[in-house]
Amino acid sequence: MRQPLVAGNWKMNGSRASVRALVEGVKAGLDGVGQVRVAVCPPFVYLADVAALLEGSAVMLGAQNLYFAASGAYTGETSAAMLMDFGCAYVIVGHSERRALFGETDETVVRKLVAASRAGLKPILCVGELLEDRENGVTEHVVGRQLDSVLHVSGGLEALANTIIAYEPIWAIGTGRTASPEQAQDVHAFIRRRIAMRDAEIAARIQILYGGSVKASNAQELFRMPDIDGGLIGGASLDAQEFLTICRAAG
Ligand code: 13P
Repeated sequence: MRQPLVAGNWKMNGSRASVRALVEGVKAGLDGVGQVRVAVCPPFVYLADVAALLEGSAVMLGAQNLYFAASGAYTGETSAAMLMDFGCAYVIVGHSERRALFGETDETVVRKLVAASRAGLKPILCVGELLEDRENGVTEHVVGRQLDSVLHVSGGLEALANTIIAYEPIWAIGTGRTASPEQAQDVHAFIRRRIAMRDAEIAARIQILYGGSVKASNAQELFRMPDIDGGLIGGASLDAQEFLTICRAAG
């Protein structure tokens, strides 16, 4: 049985004050979430504050990015070990915003994935297609390529064994336009089949989250699908009550 996970990706939002209020709000409403694992991924500068606020709570901490080198002259970057040092359990890798806006390629994404996993973090690997890809009928080709870039490099399969995947169709991110449960399920099942071609055991137990305009109003119908194991939530994770409603829907 795969444990459901709902993770909030706060992206570049918040202030020290609003972050505190958000964490307090989430902590106060955890009672109804049952077996669902809950995580929040604040901006780097708030990790220490959030780690302190989360102490003693079941909410897990994640980061939004990392660099693959262990240390050295990489101005502005943050290593896996540094994230562990601040109590992170998860790290988002290869978010489409990083791929589109900050030049991350399949190759840098896999290096980050391997570095995170080897350091003991649980990577949340994002994959997903553009609207144009979907309209051209090449969704599986694009997502398959993103997965193969991990499956076919040295250390990739070992890293994947410790990875959570987030399927985030780019056309659904921040647009209010969610994939239908059936559209999402089709791609989630495809991802599982693709991994099963390399390793059936990993495919059966890997958690695959859906991300892209998940809200309190549509979470339940998405999470009901057999291959959707939770969500990676952007905008709706900035409101504690809405986020908690989404968390409860995954139970
Ligand atoms: P939205 O939920 O705001 O569409 O963002 C999804 C996302 O990118 C999560 O990583």
